[in-house]
Amino acid sequence: MYVCVCNAVTEDDVHGCMANGACTTAKEVKAACGWKPSCGSCTKRIHAMVSRFRTASELADALTGGPLPLAAAPEPTYAATVPEPAEESTSSNAA
Ligand code: FES
Repeated sequence: MYVCVCNAVTEDDVHGCMANGACTTAKEVKAACGWKPSCGSCTKRIHAMVSRFRTASELADALTGGPLPLAAAPEPTYAATVPEPAEESTSSNAA
């Protein structure tokens, strides 16, 4: 859904800016999304989104002890989820 119709900025654009940690304020989000001043009807919406995201992020950090450093994140175990390819049987088709 569009947050700013004038600049064609979507909710995903805003969440993407904030999720990677690059933006923590509405001003930073606007700059990152290439916002140009226009009608201004989206100002309250963007401020509300930033406020909600920050509140949720701070709550998640408080409950989990903060974001994990990259070194502490476990490596994915693909071997456990992807089965080994079956070996082809040549003896049954040889006749
Ligand atoms: S809707 Fe964002 S400036 Fe118009």
